[in-house]
Amino acid sequence: MKKIIPYAKQYIDSSDIAEVSKALKQDFITQGPIIEKFEKKISKLTNSKFSIAGNSATSLLHISCLALGLKKGDYVWTTSNSFLSSATCAILCGAKVDFIDIDEKDFNLSISFLEKKLIKAKKNKKLPKIIIAVSLGGLPCDMKELKKLSSKYKFKIIEDASHSLGAFYDKKPVGSNIYSDITIFSFHAVKIITTGEGGMATTNDSHIYENLRLLRSQGVTRNQKDFKNKKNPTWYYEQKYLGLNYRITDFQAALGLSQIKKLKKFITKRNYLALTYRKKLKNLPLNFQHVSKIKKSSYHLFIARLKCKNLKKTRDGLYNFLKKRGVICNLHYIPIYKHPFFKSLKIKDKNYPNTEKYYNSALTLPLYYSMKNSEINYVIRSIKLFFGNRYEK
Ligand SMILES: Cc1ncc(COP(=O)(O)O)c(C=O)c1O
Repeated sequence: MKKIIPYAKQYIDSSDIAEVSKALKQDFITQGPIIEKFEKKISKLTNSKFSIAGNSATSLLHISCLALGLKKGDYVWTTSNSFLSSATCAILCGAKVDFIDIDEKDFNLSISFLEKKLIKAKKNKKLPKIIIAVSLGGLPCDMKELKKLSSKYKFKIIEDASHSLGAFYDKKPVGSNIYSDITIFSFHAVKIITTGEGGMATTNDSHIYENLRLLRSQGVTRNQKDFKNKKNPTWYYEQKYLGLNYRITDFQAALGLSQIKKLKKFITKRNYLALTYRKKLKNLPLNFQHVSKIKKSSYHLFIARLKCKNLKKTRDGLYNFLKKRGVICNLHYIPIYKHPFFKSLKIKDKNYPNTEKYYNSALTLPLYYSMKNSEINYVIRSIKLFFGNRYEK
């Protein structure tokens, strides 16, 4: 059988399995002491005051919008090129979503596009309450510029850092919230570290933290000081907000803690693989995400874009060619506004020219911690073969 090279894959070793087994033998398998340890570890790693673990980045994005006071009729803007959760979290709160076109060079939200859109929105009194900034593939957005705009136009910032645990911006770890109110990480299987499903929110604001804690767990408080009914027995609790169960389990947190021990080597290997692609594919008609000196990507994804002009070779052609050779690529993403659910927003494709061009030319190449040199060399050889003889060497 032909060997398959996927675009991404988790890395679980015997120490991870041992830690999960140990956690399963303890008294608490959910909301136990390991979750707190995991949260403290992420806070230390990211230099943030508070961390809240949850059962996915999607659910944490949802309660982050609620914790920032998002209400029916408010506006949330996010990048047009992201996973659905970056937008659905706001719709779940009854808010209206609009999109920001991407930058041609780094594929993250375009600051110049955003600035123009804010000027217009101010005139129309439709300024966003929150902007959700996604660090595509692990590359942080232009956070300093975004922060300046947030001070001027008074919106909050949620960093959707689902891809970027271990990334740095201006020498500070992503998650430190120097330029944002809340940062969200995903620990879904193929992300930088995994807990199966899961995620973490970090913040430096104690009020946001308390709200996130309540919203993660049915909006229920067990804190005497918060109770409306003052006379009550010791087992008493009260529901303060409408909430759901967005909790993670203790044994997932044990997996997360064990995975964090490998974070440095995960990031080093991912950077090595990305550099290998960049070096060996540099003479091909391909573009890669521009990384400025102020940013260090975690390389959750390695995205290549075909320079399709005057070229018979297309992105879909390359995808299918590689697939036949057992190399399974992916596309990150279908622009959110193109999904049938979002079509009701009546968003015009022509408003997002850079996203449209990206959508027709981008491809995510395989990159994962356990990728062997022989595998990446096979992918590179296959890509060269697709473009023709002169690139084969
Ligand atoms: C940018 C982005 N945001 C949010 C999510 C949602 O993450 P989760 O699967 O942990 O809910 C993903 C998942 O792939 C993502 O890529």
